[in-house]
Amino acid sequence: MGRRLFIAGNWKMNKTASEAADLVSKLKTEIGAAAGKVTVAVCPPFTALDRVCGILKGSNIAVGAQNLSDKASGAYTGEVSASMLLDLGVRYVIVGHSERRQYYGDTNEIVNKKAKFAISAGLLPIVCVGETLQEREAGRMKDVITTQFKGCLGNFTKEEILKTTIAYEPVWAIGTGKTATPAQAQEVHALIRSMLSGVFGADLAEQIIIQYGGSVKADNSKELMGQKDIDGALVGGASLDPAGFAKLIINAIG
Ligand code: 13P
Repeated sequence: MGRRLFIAGNWKMNKTASEAADLVSKLKTEIGAAAGKVTVAVCPPFTALDRVCGILKGSNIAVGAQNLSDKASGAYTGEVSASMLLDLGVRYVIVGHSERRQYYGDTNEIVNKKAKFAISAGLLPIVCVGETLQEREAGRMKDVITTQFKGCLGNFTKEEILKTTIAYEPVWAIGTGKTATPAQAQEVHALIRSMLSGVFGADLAEQIIIQYGGSVKADNSKELMGQKDIDGALVGGASLDPAGFAKLIINAIG
């Protein structure tokens, strides 16, 4: 389909700024020329963004944040704005990760607001969707993904969706070592692409990157990303080790 693979590491609440600096310095060397063949990004915690952006400036590895405020500025204690991220050199921002939905109350409506706000400010959102095990076992996977898709992305303009990456992360596969099978993941990716096609047209739907996330590792990255509608990965645990993350990327393209 001509879509370029996009592999991003979501470090979650791991690594101090010094540890992060060490990790990305090693990652740059480990990935080497492979970084030119796929789009690669790392998403450290806010406190490490400045150091990481400095080290990766001019490299083939982009930097993302894990969240942002839906407000531009003002009296919002503890929040971080899009302009603060842009000023550091941040390009991507993860929005609506299941951990934010589960622990911090991010609803589809909030995810929609944050993603639109990010785009209007000049950032590129990675919008996460995914069902829980309970929802899957109750046969509600399609309903849940459809509701999240409509609520998070349904009112996007074509310009907005073209700046958006979608990450399908089945909650039951996150940090559990239980990866969705390539066929299970492909089924949901195809569903998402068909919804994109329904809202934005087939041509545009073919251009959107849909990442898979949930226990992606060096030994399953190739098979997952070999699926027709899987265009990359959002990697948690396996992105914390520079050699392992580099191997995951190299295997995916190899
Ligand atoms: P793991 O790769 O650790 O399962 O985490 C996936 C994830 O949540 C990425 O955002």
